[in-house]
Amino acid sequence: MKRLDVGLGERSYSILIGLGLHPSLKDQVQGRSVVVVSQAPLAGHLQTLKSFLGDAPKSLTCFELPNGEGAKNLGELERLIGCLIEAGLGRDGMLIALGGGVVGDITGFAAACYQRGMDFIQLPTTLLSQVDSAVGGKTAVNHPLGKNLIGAFHQPQAVHVDLHWLDTLPDNEMSAGLAEVIKYGVIADADFFQWLEANMAGLRAKDKTLLSHAIATSLAIKADIVAQDEREQGVRAHLNLGHTFGHAIEANQGYGNWLHGEAVGAGMLMAAELAKSRGMLDDEQLMRLYRLNKAAGLPLKGPAQMTPEQYLPLMMRDKKVLAGKLRLVLPKGLGQAVVVSDATEAEILAAIAAVQTANH
Ligand SMILES: NC(=O)c1ccc[n+]([C@@H]2O[C@H](COP(=O)([O-])OP(=O)(O)OC[C@H]3O[C@@H](n4cnc5c(N)ncnc54)[C@H](O)[C@@H]3O)[C@@H](O)[C@H]2O)c1
Ligand SMILES: [Zn+2]
Repeated sequence: MKRLDVGLGERSYSILIGLGLHPSLKDQVQGRSVVVVSQAPLAGHLQTLKSFLGDAPKSLTCFELPNGEGAKNLGELERLIGCLIEAGLGRDGMLIALGGGVVGDITGFAAACYQRGMDFIQLPTTLLSQVDSAVGGKTAVNHPLGKNLIGAFHQPQAVHVDLHWLDTLPDNEMSAGLAEVIKYGVIADADFFQWLEANMAGLRAKDKTLLSHAIATSLAIKADIVAQDEREQGVRAHLNLGHTFGHAIEANQGYGNWLHGEAVGAGMLMAAELAKSRGMLDDEQLMRLYRLNKAAGLPLKGPAQMTPEQYLPLMMRDKKVLAGKLRLVLPKGLGQAVVVSDATEAEILAAIAAVQTANH
């Protein structure tokens, strides 16, 4: 069992990573009314969780969200809050998110709003949520006009990662999670990037020792960045490498049609091409990123029908736009990132075109 701490003063919490659930989870729900939010593909894991918790909670109610990004909306939030009221949860109740980022984001937001804030625990079951969304306290639902536009910062009380959960995760969802793992190497840790180059096949084959190392390393980087900059006024922006391009892809394709991680994978290549054109990345480093994305099973281009010009207005809608200026995270070599706010339209179009016409 690996343990990491997210140091945020009185809002600090632990992340536990291992095979099987840690007994402290039982203590965290002891004597409390609990609502577990989950989805149909997690039915087996939900049964295991219920048996594990046994009679520790005072009561346990299950709430099933529909599958997919479309479930992260205000209507489902209202239905979930209705369930909390009917289950008689007071502010001393406990919400548990058992699922991927969709379940985690809406559950976290319900916990932030319900009775002006209550405790919740993240049990992330996708690789993406285990290395990224379950930690850091960003919670949100989507509006029809844009993704994650209604949300709050609300940290969980604990995050428990059981590596067994990944056994049932489809391959394309594994690849999507690996995009975020690669991102950590690019922005913060050249040695980790190199380790990923050596171990990508084993990770995709779900080798538990390798996964445990990859998840713990990713989360240690994220926890460190969040502890420095909880509300994204500075260094936390580095976690958005590839995301401004990626969000344009997701919006253009309709949310959920391209997986978030797939869009981020292609977006990182666009950011890397832009960095190369500015002399911040050399040819060999750029090639290594293409090769690692390929080894992770990620797309090496954006959607074929999407022209570079279609990216720009969607990128300008991104939350990272400040005073009309697009702020882009770019890799500086492998293992470091910088934010630039002077990228010209011509540079951005050229970087997208470079990815779309690259031959790998
Ligand atoms: N809050 C944050 O900081 C943050 C960061 C990154 C992404 N996100 C959000 O996360 C969401 C994407 O999350 P995701 O990639 O985990 O997708 P997801 O939550 O939609 O899960 C993907 C699919 O896999 C299924 N699933 C989950 N765990 C499974 C398992 N163990 N076995 C089999 N099936 C399983 C789910 O039911 C779903 O159908 C997006 O909404 C994105 O905005 C949030
Ligand atoms: Zn992401």
